[in-house]
This record gives sequence, structure tokens and C-alpha cells, in this order.
Amino acid sequence: MTPALYNPMGTTALVTGASSGLGVGFAHELARRGADLVLTARRLDRLEALAVDLAEKYGTVSTVIPLDLAAPGAVAELMRDLTDRDIRVSTLVNNAGFALFGSVVDAPADRVHDQVTVNVTALTELSHALLPGLQAAALAHPHGAALVNLASTAAFQPVPQLAVYAASKAYVLSLTEALWYETRGTGLKVTAVCPGPTETEFYAVARRSPGGPRRLMSVDEVMQAAFAALDAARTPPHVVAGTGNRITAWLAGSAPRRAVVTVTGRLSRR
Ligand SMILES: NC(=O)c1ccc[n+]([C@@H]2O[C@H](COP(=O)([O-])OP(=O)(O)OC[C@H]3O[C@@H](n4cnc5c(N)ncnc54)[C@H](OP(=O)(O)O)[C@@H]3O)[C@@H](O)[C@H]2O)c1
Repeated sequence: MTPALYNPMGTTALVTGASSGLGVGFAHELARRGADLVLTARRLDRLEALAVDLAEKYGTVSTVIPLDLAAPGAVAELMRDLTDRDIRVSTLVNNAGFALFGSVVDAPADRVHDQVTVNVTALTELSHALLPGLQAAALAHPHGAALVNLASTAAFQPVPQLAVYAASKAYVLSLTEALWYETRGTGLKVTAVCPGPTETEFYAVARRSPGGPRRLMSVDEVMQAAFAALDAARTPPHVVAGTGNRITAWLAGSAPRRAVVTVTGRLSRR
């Protein structure tokens, strides 16, 4: 079957967490495919530099919106901003997110709150607010509209020392797969991207080394997996980047949960 290439040319894509790591990767590939961008994150200087880079490389227009997604009312503010600028979003990449390592009992309450707000609440509210527009865009631009939510291989099992983060990503995976089903037949491509440990600022932000001898994936490798899913004639409800990660995710889903959490608990103590 001929692949139904995802083609956002002439549309606008919104990427959250566009100031570093995977968000920058998504912005580049979307711009390379001819989409204009809305770039949001807290670090304005990074977003402005990226907007210039994308304009020089691909000739696309980027709108930069600095925003703290953990702040009260952030998504409502973003929606007002998009309306005021008359921007219609055809692709949403809910990429912003971060992790807090350590036992839940030791975690500062405000960091736990922010983690759930960014990883879960903002992602859900933004998906909900933009979904009608994304579906309309899918009608107007066949194969040109998408909802991409960043989950993780941490979504497939509980992870002690990373408990809130893994639970937040399990939520993202579950929500996105349900949305994939709810939007079947609308033409909207919906998928949860599940990277394993990847070379970004993620571990520096979490103040933790990735641990173990395994190689970190590159942003490019994760982008290849994400856009292969979008390019598929039938975009899958989720995509795990990397063969090893796919095997581990499958094993975690197949083994008894008590055994799985015991193994992940032991591994996370290393
Ligand atoms: N790297 C990995 O190993 C890995 C593995 C699986 C899943 N993921 C997921 O991939 C996504 C991207 O992470 P990454 O690896 O690219 O990490 P990263 O380099 O640390 O990027 C995280 C992005 O999220 C933004 N962000 C964080 N807190 C925010 C807030 N309060 N408001 C708005 N934006 C915020 C950051 O921007 P500002 O700081 O400028 O606000 C940054 O652009 C995340 O959802 C992460 O959970 C990463």
C-alpha cells in the first residue's frame, strides 16, 4: 500500500517545549515539511533563536509565545493569544514535560504539582481546546493534521524513584490511545510517541544521570520513529522509538505487575 505521507505544508503546527531537545527536533522536521510554527516554552531567547534558524533554513514563519505551562490559566492564555493572532493550528505537538527523580515522600510539593500540571493537565487541556480545530484542519488538509503527545517508555510500567513521572506518562499514553480511537474516520493523525532515554536536556533538568551503560538515543532517531508513524497509512495509536525499547515495553506489559515493579525498583536504585 502507498504510504499516506503526513504533509503539513502550508499549515501551522504548535510545538510546546520547543526551546530544547525533542521539541527542537519536531520544530525542524515540521518546518522542513513546509509548516509554519508556533513555538512555546519558558525560555524566550531559545525560541527566538530557533525561529530565526527555521526561517533561514526552510523559509517558514514562526510565532514565538513564551509561556510557563505550570502557571494557573496558562492554556486559556495560550488559546486567547492564538485567537487574537488569528492562528489556526493544524498540528499540535504536546512535547513539554520534565521529570523529578527520587522518592515521592522526599519531593518538594511545588515540584510535584508542576510536574503533574505540565505533563498531564496542560497537555489534556490543550488537546481538548484544540481538538475541534485539528479535526476541521484534517478535513481541509487531508494527511496534513496531527495530534502528537509525548509519552515515554516509562509509560509502560510503574517506576519507583520516578513514580509521578512514569504515572504521568502512563496517563498520556492512555489518553492519546483513547483519542486515537475517538477520532477515527476524521482524518486526524493521533499518536503517542514513546522515546526511551534520549540525548536532550532531560537528565540535566532532572539532576540525574541516565544510569547504566546503555546508549542514549539521539533526537534524530526519535524523530525518525515519530514521523514514520505519522507517515504511515494508518498512524498507530502509539510508537515506541527503538527496537530494544519496543521489546522492553512489550515485556513490561506482559509480565505480572508485581514482578515488573520489583525489577524497575531494583534497577532505579542503581
Ligand atoms: N529525553 C528523554 O530521555 C525522554 C524520554 C522519554 C520521554 N521524554 C519526553 O520528551 C519530552 C521532551 O523532553 P526532552 O527530552 O526534549 O527534554 P528537555 O530537553 O529538557 O526539553 C523539555 C522542554 O519542556 C519545556 N518545559 C519544561 N517545563 C515547562 C513549563 N513549566 N512550561 C513550559 N515549558 C516547559 C522546556 O522548556 P523551558 O525550560 O524553556 O520552559 C523544554 O523545551 C518530555 O515530555 C519528556 O518527558 C524524554
